[in-house]
Amino acid sequence: MREPAVDLRAAEVTWEGLSEDDLDVLADVLTDMLRPPAVVLLTGPLGSGKTTLVRKVFSAWGVGQPVKSPTFDLVHPYLLNGLRLYHVDLYRLSELEGLESLDLPAPDEEGTVVVAEWGEPLAAIYPDHWKLRLDPDPASETRRIRFSAHGPRAELQFRAGVARGLGNLAHQGGGQ
Ligand SMILES: Nc1ncnc2c1ncn2[C@@H]1O[C@H](COP(=O)(O)OP(=O)(O)OP(=O)(O)O)[C@@H](O)[C@H]1O
Ligand SMILES: [Mg+2]
Repeated sequence: MREPAVDLRAAEVTWEGLSEDDLDVLADVLTDMLRPPAVVLLTGPLGSGKTTLVRKVFSAWGVGQPVKSPTFDLVHPYLLNGLRLYHVDLYRLSELEGLESLDLPAPDEEGTVVVAEWGEPLAAIYPDHWKLRLDPDPASETRRIRFSAHGPRAELQFRAGVARGLGNLAHQGGGQ
């Protein structure tokens, strides 16, 4: 796993060429960076690895039970040592009710983490959030992953995470 490119001004970090195995290290970096309450909006084409990444992130957080894609009920909550983690998938949202019908925490509700596949519409409800974009590289079967902070609290957490040595952590995880 190559060292990521960090852009402090844009509050954005980019990893190139991530294999599925590399996602374990990435999940550790993300759980270190995200301090509840936090909201992560995942985007990327069909089959780009959104659910796979949510599984790894929730498992890094300590969720022991299987994480299944919330394709039909849109929101799956997980309770964990005082934390509430929400796995959301908005792919079918337009066929159903609007966002108001979803059982989601209020913005800044303590002890909550929302991770949403096809999550862009939630930016309207949660102004302070993270974006994570996955782009498959057709030539190598790997993914480029770009993670960025939006809003004052996320940006502060981003800078603190980088100061703790995010690049080193990722580097140690898998050599070059
Ligand atoms: N970093 C990766 N490198 C290579 N393959 C990956 C990577 N991440 C996931 N995959 C593979 O990509 C496939 C699709 O993954 P996944 O179901 O997580 O995608 P998704 O983005 O959630 O799809 P959907 O858009 O249908 O919700 C799986 O076979 C998974 O093993
Ligand atoms: Mg999915």
